[in-house]
Amino acid sequence: MLASCLPPATMTVVGAKCRDFIKPLSGCEQPLIACSRLAVFYVPKEWYIGKMKKRLVIANWKMYIQSPEAAKGFVAGLKRKTKNINNVEVWIAPPFTVLPLLKGVKVGAQTVAAHAEGAYTGDVSATMVKHAGASFAIIGHSERRAFGLTNEQVHAQLAAAAGAGLVPVLCVGERERTQDGSHFSVIEEQLTSALRGAQSLSSKLVVAYEPVWAIGKSAAEAMQQEELQETVIFIRKILADILGRAGARKVRILYGGSVEGANAHPLITEGGVGGFLVGHASAELDSFVEILKACQK
Ligand code: 13P
Repeated sequence: MLASCLPPATMTVVGAKCRDFIKPLSGCEQPLIACSRLAVFYVPKEWYIGKMKKRLVIANWKMYIQSPEAAKGFVAGLKRKTKNINNVEVWIAPPFTVLPLLKGVKVGAQTVAAHAEGAYTGDVSATMVKHAGASFAIIGHSERRAFGLTNEQVHAQLAAAAGAGLVPVLCVGERERTQDGSHFSVIEEQLTSALRGAQSLSSKLVVAYEPVWAIGKSAAEAMQQEELQETVIFIRKILADILGRAGARKVRILYGGSVEGANAHPLITEGGVGGFLVGHASAELDSFVEILKACQK
């Protein structure tokens, strides 16, 4: 069979729905086999993995680490235990209250307000977190979308973050996967609405693919690397439509959803991503260090 002539790293099997989206990328892939359900394409690995040399792992502490002592102790321990890991970038998104206290590590916000300033009780603006020491902001996390955050608001938050000079880490991901591949449309809609008019952002943008169904579980229930690779190719294709081919290649695509020491290595080596956005395992020092070790090249 023709497909078996290609090295596995340069071959991918994609569902029919995804194939329709990938097809217009002339020059990037040639369909090798097509049948009613599946198609096999040649997609050069360097195209969908992107241009970044270093892998990026972001700790999303959610509401796990609460006290200044615990947060500062974690960062001190992290520095100690990762002295010999130098080809992985580590960023931390702590709760707002401890963000200004963490030194010697790149920190960011877990969300920012859509508005620049004004009568928005309880909101924290992008400029405020920038003053507190943040250099990036997670935008559109599914745990905020679950409280009613709309695609329009995600777009406004992303613009606010970028406007304040923060790197937006845009989260996208479907609630469930369906046989007919409609989850691809969900991801496409989230990307296109959030990135409307954001062409100049590409080298500053991080996209975190976080399928909601895989969040907060265990490595055994997380997404498998083959499925992840297919989705990353799809995301890169949509980014190419929005930002242009050159712009899309500069965007880092991360995976989040039950990344643990046990699955980090197969996901990073075969999933096509440039790093991870880690939840529960990022709040436990040894688990987090295990993930960082798995990301070393
Ligand atoms: P878990 O790693 O706990 O599944 O969380 C993923 C996540 O939501 C990171 O933003």
